[in-house]
Amino acid sequence: MGDRAIDTLLLEERRYPPPADFAAQANAKADLYDVPFEEFWEREGRSRVTWFEPFHTLLEWELPYARWYVGGKINVAYNCLDRHVEAGLGDRVAYHYEAEPVGERADITYGQLLSEVVKAANGLKALGVGKGTPVGIYMGMGPGLPVAMLACARIGAPFTVVFGGFSAEALADRLNDMRCEILLTQDEAYRRGQIVPLKRNADEALASCPTVRKVVVGQRTRADVPMDPERDLTWGQMIAGQPSDPASCPCEPMDSEDLLYLLYTSGTTAKPKGIAHTTAGYLVGVATTHHYIFDLKPETDVYWCAADIGWVTGHSYIVFGPLCNGATSVLYEGTPDFPDKDRWWDIVERYKVTILYTAPTAIRAHMKWGPEYAQRHDLSSLRLLGSVGEPINPEAWVWYREHIGSDRTPIVDTWWQTETGMILITPLPGVTTLKPGSATKPFPGVEAAVVNDRGEEVGPGGGGYLVLKRPWPAMTRGIFGDDARFRATYWERFPGMYFAGDGARIDEDGDFWLLGRVDDVMNVSGHRISTIEVESALVDHPAVAEAAVCGRADPVTGQAIVAFVTLKGGEEGSVEMLETLREHVARKIGPIAKPANIVFTPELPKTRSGKIMRRLLRDVAEERPLGDTTTLADPAVVAEIAERAAAQPAEE
Ligand code: WTA
Repeated sequence: MGDRAIDTLLLEERRYPPPADFAAQANAKADLYDVPFEEFWEREGRSRVTWFEPFHTLLEWELPYARWYVGGKINVAYNCLDRHVEAGLGDRVAYHYEAEPVGERADITYGQLLSEVVKAANGLKALGVGKGTPVGIYMGMGPGLPVAMLACARIGAPFTVVFGGFSAEALADRLNDMRCEILLTQDEAYRRGQIVPLKRNADEALASCPTVRKVVVGQRTRADVPMDPERDLTWGQMIAGQPSDPASCPCEPMDSEDLLYLLYTSGTTAKPKGIAHTTAGYLVGVATTHHYIFDLKPETDVYWCAADIGWVTGHSYIVFGPLCNGATSVLYEGTPDFPDKDRWWDIVERYKVTILYTAPTAIRAHMKWGPEYAQRHDLSSLRLLGSVGEPINPEAWVWYREHIGSDRTPIVDTWWQTETGMILITPLPGVTTLKPGSATKPFPGVEAAVVNDRGEEVGPGGGGYLVLKRPWPAMTRGIFGDDARFRATYWERFPGMYFAGDGARIDEDGDFWLLGRVDDVMNVSGHRISTIEVESALVDHPAVAEAAVCGRADPVTGQAIVAFVTLKGGEEGSVEMLETLREHVARKIGPIAKPANIVFTPELPKTRSGKIMRRLLRDVAEERPLGDTTTLADPAVVAEIAERAAAQPAEE
């Protein structure tokens, strides 16, 4: 047992064993963990997807590059659409599409989705797009987005989806890095009742994207947007006269290792990394995890992943995993609070959603608004809940289960990354005894560990760095065009292992507790304390909706803890509340973790995917000029926090 790299102090004692009736019908039983790694992925590879030509070798592993299902020929769109329609499932709903404007909705069947994809694929071919042509996609959350992705996959054109909330500059960086030739976009998108001018942003971006030669513009709002007659055409023009019969556009037989897509993740400083995902291993990985972890029964479940397709969660668990498994999903265009804060619960009730997958930031927003919005609706159809994106504070976990899951549903807290492509650490809902705040166990076939600075495994209870010790099918095949950066970021810190950049600890039962990004760890009087534990202790107090903490330099203790706290129901902070919360943290964790300052603020700075940006809070706490704020969802928030922080004297 080596030294601990992070001290862990917060103890969570609540336990939730799987309900007997859930366990009895679950897709995953306990014996799944006993299947040897190679046998498991071989079996899933042979059974979960349909091949044009079978693979001959399961895995070739030359660190840091893996090749899975070597020699196979396969097509992602065929697996997501054609084979279901061929099997007679053409009338099954693929997406219950719910637009943001109230009352605007459509059920889209597998048969209809296939027709739309074939028309788009034929249209793209007519524009000269073929196997290997890079395509950029910059669209809002509507059915056109999966259609665009699947049309590219059908003809073997690798694509990159740029989240519709990104700016022109972010779009240009990505299009240029991938050297995209085509851009699929739309006139405008709706977001919280407002208009997002996608085409206008695209035009601005394209001024510096010389490789893009054609722009296809979907008409969502039908606004009159400027069109360049040489370069631009509408989606309707692209598909006009194109046949929708699948035989008119056969699926390109792709090699298992052909590029499917790039998805850019922003590092904290340097330029975004184009994370590469290839075809077969990715598809098998996302379909397998989706089947077992979400316990999907495609005939009866209504599954809803409430992420945006612009993030990896949407790629893997709105588009490719669920469609490959023949699921019926909800696809929602808008925000949870439009026109009111019960919009999600209205959707759950109306479509009788059985499985809901969302992020801690959304759960905390609902906590902040209060349970009365959920109480207005019948949520009894829900049988399973999921969480992804950040460590979930135990109090938020329990709130989610009680107020959304009727104190009955299992919750799968799923840990993974853009780079991992698929969920890697997670409960199996019919097997695992759940602990609020713990992502529990590596998925079958996945080997994870927690190590100290020297790469030695830390024993039970100790905190350290999360690593993966064995390849998995959906793992990234690298950073596009930057082998050196790929090796340096993920593979050189601990030789032979993938370094995820997250802190974690493993408890006596072998359950994993994620402690957040290692750059966020604080050092107080020689104790390395993870931000998530102090945040969870704060959120444990009934008055607190959300909290973010960071360290600032302190001449005595090395670092002192600064907490930024949002109270429930829009309450303002007070000196009494400040003392109460400091004492609360001392009681939950220990006096060492007591925040030296607490700044009360109505909002926390977050990235557009909802992760708290502690880096900016550190700048505020240290009274430094703010670092890069381009990925911030709402830049005004930090300025307000800085003002409030300046007005608040330190406590000690
Ligand atoms: C964090 C999102 C704790 C983690 C799929 C990871 C989590 C980063 C969890 C990847 C979880 C994701 N518990 N932390 N269940 N899920 N994370 O690339 O820090 O947007 O490294 O992928 O989110 O974020 P990304």
